[in-house]
Amino acid sequence: MQDIVVDLGERGYPIEIGFDLIGRNERLRALAAGRSVCIVSDETVGPLHAQALMAGLGDAPASLSRLDIPPGEGSKSWVMLDRVIGHLLERRFDRRSLLIALGGGVVGDLVGFAAAIYQRGIDFVQVPTTLLAQVDSSVGGKTAINHPLGKNMVGSFHQPKLVLADVATLATLPRREVIAGLAEVIKHGAIADTDYLAEVEAKLDDLLVGEPDALAAIVAGSIRIKAAVVAADEREANLRAILNFGHTFGHAIEAGLGYGEWLHGEAVGCGMVMAADLSRRLGGLSDAEQRRLTEVIVAAGLPGRGPHWGADRYLSLMETDKKAERGAPRFVVLDGLGRARMQAVPEATVVAAIEANRVATTA
Ligand code: NAD
Ligand code: GLY
Repeated sequence: MQDIVVDLGERGYPIEIGFDLIGRNERLRALAAGRSVCIVSDETVGPLHAQALMAGLGDAPASLSRLDIPPGEGSKSWVMLDRVIGHLLERRFDRRSLLIALGGGVVGDLVGFAAAIYQRGIDFVQVPTTLLAQVDSSVGGKTAINHPLGKNMVGSFHQPKLVLADVATLATLPRREVIAGLAEVIKHGAIADTDYLAEVEAKLDDLLVGEPDALAAIVAGSIRIKAAVVAADEREANLRAILNFGHTFGHAIEAGLGYGEWLHGEAVGCGMVMAADLSRRLGGLSDAEQRRLTEVIVAAGLPGRGPHWGADRYLSLMETDKKAERGAPRFVVLDGLGRARMQAVPEATVVAAIEANRVATTA
């Protein structure tokens, strides 16, 4: 088992990484002791993993309830937020109550936001069960639901009290979801740590077959990188924006195809291919570095080419991205592998990077 602390003073918290954590965890029992506790999961993950979590809590909570929401991005909605809040109110949850988010990033983002606003804020714990949630969304306190006019447009920063990254829960995760999580893993290496990137490359075959020790090592390495970035810039005043490497292109692809067509990680993988090309055009990456990054993304099983749309379509989709400033998209670009910065980029360079990495139009 490994422990990593997100160093945010009084809002700081521990992250435990290991196997079978949810079935026996002293920190979780101590947090739950004497409180009303609600485990929120989804209808896929709840039946698989909630029993173990409930057994692990034992008789520590004063009361324990459970709510499973439908799986999928559609649950990051006003309707589902209302369902969670209603569940708590009906059971007279007070300000001392504790929410536990058991699931992927959808459950984590929704439950974190419910915790942020229920009676002006209550404690919550993240128990992430996807690779993406373990390496990324459960750490850092970004919580949100979607609005019909934009993804993650309603939310807040609300840090959890504890994160339990139980690698054993990944045994039931479909391979496509593992691959999607690898996009954020590769991103962490690309923006912050070439040794970590090399470790991912070396362990890639094991990761793709879900080898537990390889997964545990990679989850710990990613969380260490993310926790350091969050501790340095909790509210994304500057540095934290580097975590969006590949995301400006990726969000355009997700929005253009319709959310759910490609998984978030798949769109980010392709977005990083475009962002690596952009970085080379700006002089930040050598040809060899761009090739190396593209190769590991494709070897992970992520898409190496974007949809066939013309660059105009990508550009107009990017205009709605929340990182665009007065319509001029800023991009996270690499200054060599392992170093990243934000930069406004001339439109012609963006167009070239898109054209070089999209599926060719068949005339
Ligand atoms: P998800 O929560 O939709 O989970 C993916 C699918 O896997 C779901 O169908 C779920 O039921 C299933 N699943 C989860 N764990 C499982 C398990 N152990 N076994 C079997 N099936 C399992 O998707 P995700 O990729 O985890 O998260 C995506 C969401 O995370 C997006 O909404 C994205 O915006 C958000 N996100 C948030 C942050 C943040 O900082 N808050 C960062 C990145 C992504
Ligand atoms: N996933 C981006 C962030 O947490 O800031």
